[in-house]
Amino acid sequence: MRFDYETYMKKINYEKYTKDIEGINDNLVTDSMTDWYNIEKCITKEELNEIKETAEFVRKNCDVFLVIGIGGSFLGAKSVIEALTNYFEKTKPEVIFVGTSLSSDYLYELYEHIKDKEVMINLISKSGSTLEPNLAFEYLMDKMEKKYSKEELSKRVIITTDRYESKLLDLALEKDYRRFSVPTQIGGRYSVLTPVGLLPIAVAGLDIDKLLLGARKCDKDEAIKYAIIRNELYSQGYYIESFTIYEEKMLYFTEWLKQLFAETQGKDNKGILPISVLNTRDLHSLGQYYQEGKRIIFETVINIVKERKNIKTNYGKSLNDINNIACDAVAKAHYNGGVYSNIIELDELNEETIGYLIYFFELSAAIGGYLLHVNPFDQPGVSEYKRIMMEVINNDSI
Ligand code: PA5
Repeated sequence: MRFDYETYMKKINYEKYTKDIEGINDNLVTDSMTDWYNIEKCITKEELNEIKETAEFVRKNCDVFLVIGIGGSFLGAKSVIEALTNYFEKTKPEVIFVGTSLSSDYLYELYEHIKDKEVMINLISKSGSTLEPNLAFEYLMDKMEKKYSKEELSKRVIITTDRYESKLLDLALEKDYRRFSVPTQIGGRYSVLTPVGLLPIAVAGLDIDKLLLGARKCDKDEAIKYAIIRNELYSQGYYIESFTIYEEKMLYFTEWLKQLFAETQGKDNKGILPISVLNTRDLHSLGQYYQEGKRIIFETVINIVKERKNIKTNYGKSLNDINNIACDAVAKAHYNGGVYSNIIELDELNEETIGYLIYFFELSAAIGGYLLHVNPFDQPGVSEYKRIMMEVINNDSI
């Protein structure tokens, strides 16, 4: 992993943050909702073994593994699986994410797709009270109950929810479903390295030990520097951060990044708006704005450098070489146009590098929240739409 915060970036005075960072380092150890900071608190050895055993059982006993969850309860797992599996070959079992919208087309068509297949379900909700996954679960369980016996269902349904308090915990106990816990002091968007993300990722056949190893290897100083740069740019009027990628497999990773940063920092009328672009595709659309539009954007570029599939071109360079050249040329062109970039380079896309990035961004998002003097771990704005929506639903059903 290489971090270049200089070539295409403004000069930043890191020293003026020394005191702030000392305080934040203490907060990360003592505050509530920071258990993700210590990877040993994300998952115990026993839980890790249980996840691996369960994943093996799932891999042998179903064609389709339905992961039901929204926000932090699905984005991490989906982003890792998309980043690390083949574009066109489905994993075995096929891992499908559900409950991420209220689309009836999606649920109906999903059912048509799975009705003759062997299915297992992992319902993931820390609170246990989120409408979208609960509605999807209700619909799919109605079908599952017609297909499988009670005993069979207890092997086919896995509930991942808060360790101590959640309606889903009661349900799992009542129906004897297999259970995994979300540590109480870890919120959804910081939960990918807990059973929330690790079970679906293991079911997809990926190595969760290496993912955790990568996270443990993260250089915290680089994450601190990156958080400082973001804060400095924000204070100078750069209100939008673009996560810029050159590999489409990373597209969902940028969805996870958007949630992580938006929910961590976007509150109290403050915060950088995270957006994402896939280049070179988006150079032919948003690229115009980046080059010549209002100067409120900066970029964090994540590029995978090493040659993977040697595809030759008539330019005397491989396709991968040209992609790398494009990445550098774009950063240079944008810099000349007044758009600054942080560059993060990975040699390869694998469990270790993705694990590293997950921890790196979690840490920098949280530090960024502290630097902005907002609570990095709540999301009051998310609750507000739920309140209004439920008011209407409940009034109409009286
Ligand atoms: O980061 C968060 O806490 C949220 O995005 C949640 O993950 C999301 O709202 C889903 O919540 P739950 O897991 O309780 O269903």
